[in-house]
Amino acid sequence: MLKNFWYAVEFAKDVTSTPRKVTCLGQDLVLYRTEDGTLACLSDLCVHRGAALSGGEVKNGCVVCPYHGWEYSTDGACVKIPANHDGVPIPKKARVDSYPVEERHGFVWVFLGDLPEAERVPIPYLEYMENPDFRPVYGEYLWHANYERILENGCDVSHPPFVHSGSFGNPDKPEVPELHIEEQEWSAHVEVELEPPSPKGIWSMLSSRKKERPKVRTESGFWMPNVIKLGVNLPFGKLVIYDTNIPIDETTTLVKFIVLRNFFKSPAFDKNTRDRTLKIFREDDHIVESMRPELLPYDLPSELHVKSDGMALAYRRMRARALTNGWAIDTHNFPINGPKRQATVIPSPARREVPELANAWVMKEIGVQILGGRNAESTDPPEGGTTLDSAEMN
Ligand code: FES
Repeated sequence: MLKNFWYAVEFAKDVTSTPRKVTCLGQDLVLYRTEDGTLACLSDLCVHRGAALSGGEVKNGCVVCPYHGWEYSTDGACVKIPANHDGVPIPKKARVDSYPVEERHGFVWVFLGDLPEAERVPIPYLEYMENPDFRPVYGEYLWHANYERILENGCDVSHPPFVHSGSFGNPDKPEVPELHIEEQEWSAHVEVELEPPSPKGIWSMLSSRKKERPKVRTESGFWMPNVIKLGVNLPFGKLVIYDTNIPIDETTTLVKFIVLRNFFKSPAFDKNTRDRTLKIFREDDHIVESMRPELLPYDLPSELHVKSDGMALAYRRMRARALTNGWAIDTHNFPINGPKRQATVIPSPARREVPELANAWVMKEIGVQILGGRNAESTDPPEGGTTLDSAEMN
């Protein structure tokens, strides 16, 4: 799991002035809006005795711990300790980590890391969320699998004929056209034309009745570290799915998705749209949950790659860069599940940016793995398939 990225952790419509616990990277966070609508995200860990702030309430712009009533402002500083008499100063160490938070494209995004603003990878632009011709439908799905395995599956253009033959995959046409992947520094997208299977249900009423059906132009893409886009150009309109694969821990992933369509925009069809998306996830999940190793290997040669795996390889190249940057959370030496005697947190920017607070942090920073050496940036999968050139990270 990677720190120092923006994570879409919740639908914006669901964040209110009632504190909400969200879990990402094995960390509990409390998300809320103050009375004037200001968004805030703090570590959900009161510095006094470690009670969850998400069990408290929002009052006068602060979140109030439910145990002894300490009040924290949106920057994480404790501003009131009710048990103290008037005039008793609040210790400098009475503070929790406060994370940068933004509302954009239907999601609330939290920057989980300590990079200064100028060095942060930007929040992805989810263009169809800004297009009023498209109607959004919201949903979520819980996977018992690693988020990287799920992300690669979401961008995998060769599995639909086998896993989704009951929906959009065509088992008679498994060949994948040449992939022309558009790769940016921290994202990749590809468009392919696929042979559609015969339509079923209500969709068949909207489709051409001719026997020869045109190919379907589909888009697949991802933004680091965990957002996927899928787009399908149907004969009667366009369907786009954005989903954020939230790593609750290394083997549990909560997917929050928004499906947008510019056809059949009556709310009466929302349930059908959501149900179809969930059906696709259900078709995938028993396969993805069966994959071993559970976690995506660091070394490319430990799995075999072919040309049609281009999107997964693009992801692994970008991940390799993040690993060499020292952004990988060390879950081996700092296990995130099970009882502990020392709570750890993702460091927030204030730990770096405010020198006078250098010694003001009670909660320890979670450890990171420094992984360097050669990576896959200069290798491509050869025609026909073989292992890639040695790419072991050590
Ligand atoms: Fe939060 Fe005591 S544990 S105020």
